[in-house]
Amino acid sequence: MRRAVRFLMALVVALALVAWVGSAIVHRTTRAWFEKDVSLRAQLVVSGARQALATHWRKEQRSELQGLLAEIAHDERIMAAAACAADFTTLTRTKDYPDQFGCADLGPHVRPSADSPAEEWKAWGTVATLPGGDVHVSAIPVLDAEHPLGFVVLVHDLSFVQRREATTQRFMLLAFGLLAATAAIVTIVTARLAWRGWSDELRGILRSGTKRPEFQPILRDVRDLVDRIVAEKQSDRDGGAWTPQRLKHTLNRYLHGEKVVILANREPYVHEHTKSGTIEVLHPASGLVTALEPVMRACSGVWVAHGSGSADKQTVDKQSRVAVPPGEESYLIRRVWLSPEEEKGYYYGFSNEGLWPLCHIAHARPIFRSEDWKHYQAVNQRFADAVCEEVDSEDPIVLVQDYHFALAPRLIRERLPRATVIMFWHIPWPNSARLGICPWRNALLEGMLGASILGFHTQFDCNNFVESVDRFLEARIDREQQGVVQHGRTTLVRPYPISLEWPVRWSSTTPPAAECRRALCEELELPPNALIGVGVDRLDYTKGVEERLLAVECLLDRYPEYRGRFTFIQLAAPSRTVIERYQQYNDSVEKLAARINERFGEGSYRPIVLLRRHHEPPVVFRYYRAADVCYVSSLHDGMNLVAKEFIAAREDERGVLVLSQFTGAARELTEALIVNPYDLGEASAALATALTLSTEEQRDRMRSMRAFLAEFNVYRWAGRMLADAARLRSRDRLTGRLTDHLAAAAR
Ligand code: F6P
Repeated sequence: MRRAVRFLMALVVALALVAWVGSAIVHRTTRAWFEKDVSLRAQLVVSGARQALATHWRKEQRSELQGLLAEIAHDERIMAAAACAADFTTLTRTKDYPDQFGCADLGPHVRPSADSPAEEWKAWGTVATLPGGDVHVSAIPVLDAEHPLGFVVLVHDLSFVQRREATTQRFMLLAFGLLAATAAIVTIVTARLAWRGWSDELRGILRSGTKRPEFQPILRDVRDLVDRIVAEKQSDRDGGAWTPQRLKHTLNRYLHGEKVVILANREPYVHEHTKSGTIEVLHPASGLVTALEPVMRACSGVWVAHGSGSADKQTVDKQSRVAVPPGEESYLIRRVWLSPEEEKGYYYGFSNEGLWPLCHIAHARPIFRSEDWKHYQAVNQRFADAVCEEVDSEDPIVLVQDYHFALAPRLIRERLPRATVIMFWHIPWPNSARLGICPWRNALLEGMLGASILGFHTQFDCNNFVESVDRFLEARIDREQQGVVQHGRTTLVRPYPISLEWPVRWSSTTPPAAECRRALCEELELPPNALIGVGVDRLDYTKGVEERLLAVECLLDRYPEYRGRFTFIQLAAPSRTVIERYQQYNDSVEKLAARINERFGEGSYRPIVLLRRHHEPPVVFRYYRAADVCYVSSLHDGMNLVAKEFIAAREDERGVLVLSQFTGAARELTEALIVNPYDLGEASAALATALTLSTEEQRDRMRSMRAFLAEFNVYRWAGRMLADAARLRSRDRLTGRLTDHLAAAAR
């Protein structure tokens, strides 16, 4: 009904528009016709009376001439007439002849110049407006055997034209309205009949489960989609917001409280020796750790990781385990020790010089060495073995993380065929042409397909992965289930966009924004009214730190009012510094910051403050809170949790996020100012906009993004994967039971 009303309203508006345009056209056209008509008529009248006119004219019989004009003006449409001599003097005129059409004024239109011969004399006409309405004035030469005597002026009343115009318009509108109404009724009736027919047919198909083969794929897709949406909605309705408790409850309810084992290269707590001889615990700068640590605290279990801290060995028990978090001890880290050669080949070499640039479009050339590949294979086996030592059942739940362990899912499955292995890939997945660069691409794909569920941040990455399998492996793509089937086993390939715990624990311990700002200005010797920008990254070429600093330079170039006022603080955690490309990047970022400071620095003012060291999360949160703007400029990024952390830190609903379009986060945080980091004009303009955005607009954007993060938090991320895993397990158990049953029956 509402749709029909909307359609009718649109129709009325369209009709009004068409009628308005139509009446203007009618007016102009009928006007032109009538004018032409009147001037022809005037000529006819004069030519009919020419003989008599010429006779009286020649004899200068003015009273006869006047009588003749009066007779002509008897016509109901001719208001007045005048006879003008060849020298433009008035010979005679009727009683009501209007003064403004004097012979002297009209004469030059009839006779162009004083010595114009007879053939140059011409009839002339125009429309003029008098207080009583429009009139048509015609001046027509009177010739006596080719000899011009003068001209006659006839003034026609045009009010009849207006009357006829109005009548024509009324008829036209009526006809038009009838036509439009008929067309609308026919359209509505036809559309309703077609819709009813179509939906009846669809309903019939859905009810009867038709055997028509062309409908089967679409039917399966629709049913599957509807089931999934209903299940997700139901699970959200049942449980409300996702919290650590709800995640734990999901684990207990659907997975019977099974122990969760995480395999990730980076450990969540690193023990380091300090210069003073003590041991400190550090939180590494890692999106993976930021996301997964709260999940582990909620679920308990074991996190298997590389023991990379200088004091790690001193803090573990005989099984290389340590309970964390310090003071809370809710789960275990199982450390795996690597020799320097192993670390070089597996971590720096294959993982970070090969796979990392392969998966990121950031203009770094992937390097693949066979020695690195051997280490990668061996280390994957060692970690897979460590996982198998930590599980306490035949069918454990193992969460394998990231590109360091592409081979581990298959290796774990070989030892534990009934395990539920969920692999999450934290970085983008390349398209198949790019993946083809890697000499061991097939082994990587085979290794990953050992997982039961394979998760990526976006559907785009899933599509790229499935396309790669299609291109390089003998496997069947099951689009209905969103999976890949190989050797009779299915691996689901699905998007699970990662997120943060909510609220982030550092939020409650960080002072309010005003205090953070005051302390920071004091520490960095910034004036209290300074405008502050912040960037937080590992020093990695994919993060676009160079492009970010160049955007700041461009801002100061284009908007001189920010010189001396705007300071951009870049927290840069040194990362993978053994690799040459990272060393170069480190140097170039430092040189760039120095150049910009040199160019725009004045007195104690430096536009760029580059802090190249590791910052613990509570410190990072102080910077987030103190800033007016946070700029995330990744050239390519799976998700980017810095963007989400900045939002999480801003309980005051202030501050603006400028975000690269090449991050997974840009698909979710749409209220950020989204930019192409390569486009310095656009990025600098966005920074300028961010610095002038009203507090109301900042609040509206922040509020909306915070609401999104509160709902789509990391507990939901993990909960969804575990729920999918639970469904898979029960399906596998049922089909396993059925197979056993059939085998027993056959014996
Ligand atoms: O983003 C990819 C990733 O492995 C993350 O998972 C992690 O946050 C980050 O890189 C840290 O890298 P690394 O462990 O090499 O310091």
